[in-house]
Amino acid sequence: MKATDSIVFPRIGLKSINRTLLAAMTNKQSNLDGTLSDEEIKWLVRRAKGGFGITTTAAANVTETGRGWDGEMGVWGDHQLPGLTKMATQLNQTDTISLVQLFHGGMRAPESLNGVQPISASKNTEAGMDGKYTREMSDEEINSMIESFTQAALRCEKAGFHGVELHGAHSYLICQFLGSITNRREDDWGGDIYSRSRFLRKVIESIRRVTNPNFLIAVRISPIIEKVGLYLEDSLQLANILCDMQIDMLHISCWDVFQPVEGEETGPSLTKRFSKIVPKTIPLISTGAVWTSQDAQWLIDEGADIIGVARVGIGHPDWPQHLSDPDYQPEKPPFTVKHLENVDLSPVFIEYMKRWKNFVV
Ligand SMILES: Cc1cc2nc3c(=O)[nH]c(=O)nc-3n(C[C@H](O)[C@H](O)[C@H](O)COP(=O)(O)O)c2cc1C
Repeated sequence: MKATDSIVFPRIGLKSINRTLLAAMTNKQSNLDGTLSDEEIKWLVRRAKGGFGITTTAAANVTETGRGWDGEMGVWGDHQLPGLTKMATQLNQTDTISLVQLFHGGMRAPESLNGVQPISASKNTEAGMDGKYTREMSDEEINSMIESFTQAALRCEKAGFHGVELHGAHSYLICQFLGSITNRREDDWGGDIYSRSRFLRKVIESIRRVTNPNFLIAVRISPIIEKVGLYLEDSLQLANILCDMQIDMLHISCWDVFQPVEGEETGPSLTKRFSKIVPKTIPLISTGAVWTSQDAQWLIDEGADIIGVARVGIGHPDWPQHLSDPDYQPEKPPFTVKHLENVDLSPVFIEYMKRWKNFVV
């Protein structure tokens, strides 16, 4: 198997031209009301034209008050539909499969930005939140949040996207429900990992109920995040739980796929551990620190069905096309501003990338 081979999504028979995925990347280019700017559409479509089998948007918020930062993409209202439709239409003119990443900040949605006290599975706080605490969501609020995720997915479908990726990683709201530290509820939404995954499961079921059967649902999770109380054993169990549902892809966000599991010098990689659990009917995406053709091949050999990349796709929009060369070694950051301009990053995005260590000269 190679990254350049095509792959079919078994549930609906849709084919991806290769096994590459541009992972979700926040780029701060959206307008204040969450609508897409032309710059944001341009940057993403450029990557789709570059040959990514699957292209994911930036994390897009399902409610107006769950925002984590300025310039964030939104999918909470119909005023966002024209921009979403424009983006989906242009992505669909390429060979890519288009996904919108759906999320809510939960304890990472500052009051200073949203004007309301943040909410979460339990009363939590987070660095950078001015020492303020979240409010535990009521049953009614949880059900209304499931509805917000559902309406957002419907909006993406209406706009013409192939599907959505539910952002269950990186300590945002879904992840806060999954973690035993951030979810200390004693009702049906808390408890063991099965119960803590109830929120995510209800979101999946609800989206599946109202969207066309061909609409793709991917789920992104973090295998380990100690600060929310999510550990490998639970995540492997979670993978089992999710793969029994009607999802189309499971995405593990590893940050560095080559790193051994913390506390172990050797032992199987995260990708290998998940690939043993995830059935072949559900493609496994693994992402983190892949740059070269050899990296991609290593990850496939570890059991990933699809290679996710983020940073290399910023600097090298045609990355998937180069993978036919087994010795391809793209230039690594820091990139010059001129280079980033040439690959369709706007000044706003370039400014944001200066916050990523050693990315911009
Ligand atoms: C600029 C930037 C923005 C990111 N934004 C998101 C995001 O919105 N949602 C998400 O799930 N991950 C986000 N990530 C994480 C990436 O999807 C990816 O998992 C991570 O960068 C590791 O992959 P890489 O080594 O190929 O860059 C972001 C990464 C970068 C570099």
